Amino acid sequence: MRAFLDLISNSQWDSGISFVGCGSATPQKVISNHQLGQRVDTNDEWIQSRTGIGERRVIGDHESLIDLATDAALNAVEMADWDVKTIDLIILATSTPEDLFGSAPKIQSNLGASNAFAFDLTAACSGFLFALVTASQYLASGSIKRAVVIGADQLSKWVDWDDRKTCVLFGDGAGAVALESSGDKSGLIGYDLKSDGSKGGCLNLSQSNIFLNLVQGATHQKGEYLPIKMEGKEVYKFAVKEVPIILGEILEKYQIKSENIDWLLLHQANQRILDAVASRFSIPSEKVLSNLKHYGNTSAATIPLMLDEAVRDHRIKSGDLIACSGFGAGLSWGAALFYWHGPY
Ligand code: UT7
Repeated sequence: MRAFLDLISNSQWDSGISFVGCGSATPQKVISNHQLGQRVDTNDEWIQSRTGIGERRVIGDHESLIDLATDAALNAVEMADWDVKTIDLIILATSTPEDLFGSAPKIQSNLGASNAFAFDLTAACSGFLFALVTASQYLASGSIKRAVVIGADQLSKWVDWDDRKTCVLFGDGAGAVALESSGDKSGLIGYDLKSDGSKGGCLNLSQSNIFLNLVQGATHQKGEYLPIKMEGKEVYKFAVKEVPIILGEILEKYQIKSENIDWLLLHQANQRILDAVASRFSIPSEKVLSNLKHYGNTSAATIPLMLDEAVRDHRIKSGDLIACSGFGAGLSWGAALFYWHGPY
């Protein structure tokens, strides 16, 4: 491992961007499969065997997505041991902002990060990876030194809780990472991002087509969204086809063998997808990170939420190599290879 690390850190792949902190926050309320079975025609056996999900958390009274995202970011900043005034950039990856004009500035103000600029980024379940890569461009250019990237979603707002094909899958949560440029330890090795809007109809949270009278001879569109609609099988096939391709491509590009990966960290959508991707690279199950059992699919939050859990319980150690991939609506997908360099 050490020789391999030296090889990478001495090579042309040095991005100069380090992962120095992570954090997460989840709602208090846990909804079990059994409880969902009291609402729709489903059961724990079906959900566990088809998805690996045992329970999920849902934002209820006295909680908000912005509060969760703020807590996740704060945990990451504390782990990095940063003064909040030194943060230059905050990106909130979310498809469920509390304000369509953006929720990131509210988080910036909650944190007291008065020197940071902040904005939202939407790429559904791939959002965290897209935001990570966006932040890395600012860091690599030298225009900023410190960034916090948050993935947070409250899909429970937009799920049709009477549609058993989708309601069993999703949960709410938030996760964050603290990224630093010009650290002495380079973390981000490389990445790739992709989109295919022609298949976007497989998974939507689209606006309703309601037009109301505005004035004589003119209408306007009412601002309103329909519940999440998904062709599960199509999304499944897309994920098990494209994730191995994109991961394989970046592994090849950076000449990294799959046996050198310490952890496979995929978007947590379905345990069968995690297992299928791992088996394509002969990655043993002990190296495949999964917390689907407790949180389900928290959209943009899954990757940093899982990272934070595995860092804080000391599975991921400083210097570990992580192969990461996210995928989802858009359709969109991406992959990144990075070393964890946080203090744990
Ligand atoms: O982050 C976004 C990315 N999203 C994903 O990655 C989702 C990808 N897709 C999947 O994970 C899977 O396709 C699902 C978990 C959504 C569905 O699993 P599946 O094995 O593809 O099931 P299916 O849709 O083919 O349904 C099989 C059967 C159907 O019954 P019939 O027609 O065979 O009688 C469904 O009606 O299971 C039924 N079914 C359920 N039964 C009990 C569907 N949902 C449920 C349910 N409980 N919740």
